Amino acid sequence: MYLTKEEEKALEGEYGEAIAMAMRILVTLGEMNNAERLIKINSAHVSGISYVNIGEEGLEFILKMAEAKVKVRTTCNPACMDLERWRDLGISEHIAEGQLRIAEALRDMNIEETFTCTPYFVGNRPSKDSHVSWGESSAVVFANTFLEARTNREGGPSALASAIVGKTPLYGLHLEENRRPTVRVKIEYTPSSLCDYSMVGYIIGYRIQRGIPLVEGLKVQDEDQAKAFSAGLAAASNVSMAILKPQPQPLEVVEIDEKEVKEYYERFNIHEKPDLIFIGCPHCSLEELMYVDLLIKKPLKGVEFWMCTSRGVYMKAKRRGIIDSLESKGVKVLKDMCIVVTKIRDMGYESVWTNSSKAAHYLKLLHGVKVRLCSIKSIVSSITKRANTP
Ligand code: F3S
Repeated sequence: MYLTKEEEKALEGEYGEAIAMAMRILVTLGEMNNAERLIKINSAHVSGISYVNIGEEGLEFILKMAEAKVKVRTTCNPACMDLERWRDLGISEHIAEGQLRIAEALRDMNIEETFTCTPYFVGNRPSKDSHVSWGESSAVVFANTFLEARTNREGGPSALASAIVGKTPLYGLHLEENRRPTVRVKIEYTPSSLCDYSMVGYIIGYRIQRGIPLVEGLKVQDEDQAKAFSAGLAAASNVSMAILKPQPQPLEVVEIDEKEVKEYYERFNIHEKPDLIFIGCPHCSLEELMYVDLLIKKPLKGVEFWMCTSRGVYMKAKRRGIIDSLESKGVKVLKDMCIVVTKIRDMGYESVWTNSSKAAHYLKLLHGVKVRLCSIKSIVSSITKRANTP
């Protein structure tokens, strides 16, 4: 891969070991993917920062990188805990200490303490055709598909390396020729909830596994629907981008109908009482918090109900009184954290109801949790009915 004189100096350690390490990561990645050179990026989003997931080894890596500062606007993914309310959640001192050291290292690098998988809701919104380096698969699909920015599906180390160098190798979805559809997907089904959008994305991912789907027959009308669709698609596959604008291309066709959607829902269909109700994968928008607040009429009893969001959205909701209202009805509104990258079963949760196919997929696969997947509306109506049943 071609390197400029400056890049060579950085690789040889002239600007310090952290920058040299970041360059080694980018050069290795570039050479593996036949990139011609590095290109400048406008922003980065760093995933892989949960202490539960990366442990001591990952913490050591981040501490070494923290000798450098990031060169572009950089946000970060959720941690394994609410950085303020972790004691309420039963997180151990040991895990909290590791997570707080990671948070401090990110701060030292000038990474914005967003701790969210929805950086696009808190100001990190790249413009059309801009090159960025984002980790977090759901945000990658959202950025490529709905913002029309250009990013590969980075891992935590490569996104961090790009943030430090301010560049990424030129390959994959940064190149126009790799942003064309590879398969036509016809949706013969009308989603009526965010959960349905998440399920449609999930089924497309499951069916095609890779490439770029040209999706027909699906109307995505707002960013919550786009977010749910993106997360489902990314959870079930290596797909990092979809195209929803019609294109006249002769392509292999995959059809998805209502019967198939019902069959997929059956995969996540426990009937047991939930230990935990969880909304917020990806992190809730202000509108979702408002919606749930309106839906719950009376305080909930005998059920643990979590909603996860970003600090930025939390603060907006707090100012409008939504957080206090939800909390008064028995909903814990948590920020900074992701339920999938924490020790959910150690906290005593064995069965979870959620409206996110991504959360359902990973909770079942990685944690062996029993999951029911259904819309927020049916979750709230079921728990309200159960509470009223003598
Ligand atoms: Fe976000 Fe975690 Fe879901 S990072 S998309 S809440 S799995």
